[in-house]
Amino acid sequence: MSKTAYINDKPFEITEGETILSFMRRHHGKDSVPTLCDAPNLEPFGSCRVCSVDVALEREGKTKALASCHTPVTEGNYIYPDSDNITRLRKNIIELVLTDHPLECLTCEVNGNCELQTVAARVGITEVRYPAGETHTNREKDKSHPYMTSDLSKCINCYRCVRACDEVQGQFVLSMAGRGFDSHIVKGMDESFMDSDCVSCGACSQACPTSAISDVFMSKSIQSTEKTRTICTYVEWVVIWMWRHAMVRFPQSKRLLMQR
Ligand code: SF4
Ligand code: SF4
Ligand code: FES
Repeated sequence: MSKTAYINDKPFEITEGETILSFMRRHHGKDSVPTLCDAPNLEPFGSCRVCSVDVALEREGKTKALASCHTPVTEGNYIYPDSDNITRLRKNIIELVLTDHPLECLTCEVNGNCELQTVAARVGITEVRYPAGETHTNREKDKSHPYMTSDLSKCINCYRCVRACDEVQGQFVLSMAGRGFDSHIVKGMDESFMDSDCVSCGACSQACPTSAISDVFMSKSIQSTEKTRTICTYVEWVVIWMWRHAMVRFPQSKRLLMQR
């Protein structure tokens, strides 16, 4: 017999083993719950809490805010994804993130293609109420590598790059060092991209929701019009390399590529 959980008091069928986030997305669309640290090709992590929803065990019962991306949905859950409490919570989280983020969107590589920007708009940020304090916005850019770049002043400590390097590539180049306010991404033994064991696959750049990790081609400034599933984890690089070189060296091929 099928099991049921409720979204805003309306019943929906549960699929065995799914999280509240996938349950919400399956029934209410992919934009039904905002997320930041979650990525479709990575294991749920549960660090940003932007995906929080209110959950009760009975209709209009006492609710608890739970991170939907890593909480399994269970029979009889009453989920309230946009309660006043949750709306305030999400907004507050993003405001706190923005207190330590350089507000230079107009000149940023990913302007218009930035998950932080999208989530800030989605949760209704129009101002940051907190006074300016100590920040990490003066971190130096790493341009040591022929392909990879980083500007960790734009890092929001979501761990997506670390997880992509571990889970997708199995390279274990990136990690988080320090604690609390001093937490920061390090490459290898706290060295530059060039000195680390990075194999230039680009998985971290693809996973990063801001421009904190990118590449010399500024490929994150390009909005994809189509997605193709592949078994090659390096194929993105090959396509970008071909596209950029075709533009510079083979104008005729550029026209052909652009027509396709
Ligand atoms: S580009 Fe380098 S650091 Fe990034 S995921 Fe690949 S191996 Fe890891
Ligand atoms: S570099 Fe990007 S992916 Fe890595 S923790 Fe920072 S914001 Fe997240
Ligand atoms: S998306 Fe769920 S905790 Fe970050």
